[in-house]
Amino acid sequence: MNAVTQAIAPPMGLLAELTHRCPLSCVYCSNPLEMERAAAELDTEGWKRVLTEAADLGVLQVHFSGGEPMARRDLEELVRHAREVDLYSNLITSGVTMTEARLAKLVEAGLDHIQLSFQDVEAESAERIGGMKGAQARKLACARMIREADVALTINFVVHRQNVQHVGAMIALAHELGARRVEIAHTQYYGWGLLNRDALLPSRAQLDESTRVVEALRPGYEGRMAIDYITPDYYASEPKPCMGGWGRRFINISPAGRALPCHAAETIKTLSFPSVKDFSLAEIWYGAEAFNRFRGTDWMPEPCRGCAFKEQDWGGCRCQALALMGDAAATDPVCSRSPFHDKVLEALPVGEGVGPEFVYRKNPR
Ligand code: FES
Repeated sequence: MNAVTQAIAPPMGLLAELTHRCPLSCVYCSNPLEMERAAAELDTEGWKRVLTEAADLGVLQVHFSGGEPMARRDLEELVRHAREVDLYSNLITSGVTMTEARLAKLVEAGLDHIQLSFQDVEAESAERIGGMKGAQARKLACARMIREADVALTINFVVHRQNVQHVGAMIALAHELGARRVEIAHTQYYGWGLLNRDALLPSRAQLDESTRVVEALRPGYEGRMAIDYITPDYYASEPKPCMGGWGRRFINISPAGRALPCHAAETIKTLSFPSVKDFSLAEIWYGAEAFNRFRGTDWMPEPCRGCAFKEQDWGGCRCQALALMGDAAATDPVCSRSPFHDKVLEALPVGEGVGPEFVYRKNPR
């Protein structure tokens, strides 16, 4: 651990991945291929300490995520603690285990916002993508409970070639369910998404049509529901500022307490990620080699180093550079200025068929 450098701004958000356990098996899950077991999860006191340290560090928001964070029996206690230390709390959930009683406890504990995920608008397709029978009816019931409890709701759809034709219906469903915001996010290809890329990546025509539909609908919802639309990196010519830049805005904590600059960081085997059991969040944020390695612009190779956009995209995504180039320090090949941009072009599909069978996310043992 290096000396603390206070010139670095504190993180804005903490992603608390409370568990990798989940009743769904989504084929694009952002969890790592190797899950952390329930027995290895941080205990209640460990998470409370992380929340306190996050607030002291300057974090404003905590996102309780997973896996399915509702699988933790102490979720209400952690929400209450977040409120006590003045963190805005967001629950990212599949909703399939929500009950009125549990929601009432979460609201009473001070939960500020819920982000509810859907896999599609039709039950059959949604349940095939998420790998859980009966999930859609439970999600719809959860959305209605949230509406009745008057908790701020964002509905999230992850889209890909097997549901991209439904984006208009997704927006309509989110509005009908009382969402203040809907997020239509094309799959990003790391982890399970990368494993299923040939079954998920849409064609250029499918992407363009989904973009056209979203943009045509957007004005009609102005002032009633915000629409966030996130396109897949593979069709971009500029890389995205992944996580707002490495070690700039977010800190992720894995179920076992490892601190990560992004959810896929553990794919970078050349870095070692410190545990909150051994170091404070401040020591990790300012001093850990894993957080400093790709922070700022000094680490950048050409053409990033001389690029006018380097403080806008912060070099794109390190995990994508690793996945496509085998080198986390390479220019993100999504960038049209990368000498290896053809790696991305080669991966683009030619047809629009359903592709190979899904490989479903597995639960930790
Ligand atoms: Fe790790 Fe983009 S997912 S830097």
